[in-house]
Amino acid sequence: MGLEIQQQRVQLSNIAISDTHGENSPYFAGWKAYDENPYHDLTNSSGVIQMGLAENQVSFDLVEKYLKDHPEDYKGFRENALFQDYHGLISFRTAMAAFMEQIRGSRAIFDPQRIVITAGATAANELLTFILANPGDALLVPTPYYPGFDRDLRWRTGVNIVPIHCNSSNNFQITPQALQAAYEEAQSMNMKVSGVLITNPSNPLGITIQRSVLEEILDFVTEKNIHLISDEIYSGSVFSSNEFVSVAEILEARSYKGAERVHIVYSLSKDLGLPGFRVGTVYSYNDKVVTTARRMSSFTLISSQTQQFLANMLSDKEFTEKYININRERLKKRYEMIVEGLRSVGIECLKGNAGLFCWMNMSPLLKETSKEGELELWNEILKEVRLNISPGCSCHCSEAGWFRVCFANMSEQTLEIALDRIRKFMAKRIRTKKE
Ligand SMILES: Cc1ncc(COP(=O)(O)O)c(C=O)c1O
Repeated sequence: MGLEIQQQRVQLSNIAISDTHGENSPYFAGWKAYDENPYHDLTNSSGVIQMGLAENQVSFDLVEKYLKDHPEDYKGFRENALFQDYHGLISFRTAMAAFMEQIRGSRAIFDPQRIVITAGATAANELLTFILANPGDALLVPTPYYPGFDRDLRWRTGVNIVPIHCNSSNNFQITPQALQAAYEEAQSMNMKVSGVLITNPSNPLGITIQRSVLEEILDFVTEKNIHLISDEIYSGSVFSSNEFVSVAEILEARSYKGAERVHIVYSLSKDLGLPGFRVGTVYSYNDKVVTTARRMSSFTLISSQTQQFLANMLSDKEFTEKYININRERLKKRYEMIVEGLRSVGIECLKGNAGLFCWMNMSPLLKETSKEGELELWNEILKEVRLNISPGCSCHCSEAGWFRVCFANMSEQTLEIALDRIRKFMAKRIRTKKE
């Protein structure tokens, strides 16, 4: 803090002093290490390369070109400056619904009236948790999971996350047995299970959930009479749109039977690379949830200016089609570049087909197969190799030695440098092993 003020002890709320935020996780510690010594090709070439941030910068040029070609999209100062209610602009909700369909290969339909706008998927997930669960209840979440969920689902809501343990024996797929075990675990701790939350494609695995698995999850939540939240925030980043199945498609095929327990979260942070714009949605098939979520969205709205700009950009079908295709090709190329680069030095990744990262198996390098062993390796990579990657334990992975590595938040040249540093690290490892 710049201005030093003597801090007497003054009581704060339980939420303020609770550590369920999860900020002490190595996921955030890695970000801090990057902030203190960020890599820059000209001014700090020995700095830390940020590979712990799932950001998509590979298609910035396309959005920038659109902005240059359409300066008129930023007009309308007076309308934008006026108070807006929590319904959001209908032009924006209509454009967003159409884009959500397009990015899912037009195999699902979305009704603009069911779209609730929120400041990113972060707010959407918390808002849904507030609506579907009471403090002390449980949400079942497959592990490994996105580290931000500890904050988004637990911190302010008082809801617990109970892990659905997935492991490498079946490529970390969710099974009915794992679902049932998590359900029983929550019950044994006297928690009421409110729902299951999945990320599709999975963060951190970078793989889409198979149709048959989605069907099983839907059957499970129906049988238990609980909710399903499907966080589909980077559905457009899949390398082939056919490999991604939205829960919306399955519900349509089931004539929306049981749909009232299903809620989709979507955001433009990954697909359009706009996390700074804070644009997310809750799409619910439950009328009461839509109404309540809309009321609650007063706390986390998107500015009118952003809505108006995106309403125009997303309605430009020529632009969105071109963007989706080029973005997909570029991400695929990046993915192949990193997976091949790692393979050439003996590091294997889970076979991915989506997302902005890969799930890297470094277990053969652990001195000790444990969380401590994993953190020791993570620390070595952060301090010596100066790469910030996220250890599996920050994603609550039940197996030691896995790491999430992001590849789309940097230039190709920086990725080459990161790979080169890993190459040298591995060569040194082999040398010291021989000695
Ligand atoms: C699965 C998942 N949900 C939510 C978020 C948060 O996204 P947003 O920037 O839209 O808040 C992320 C971002 O990494 C994510 O991967």
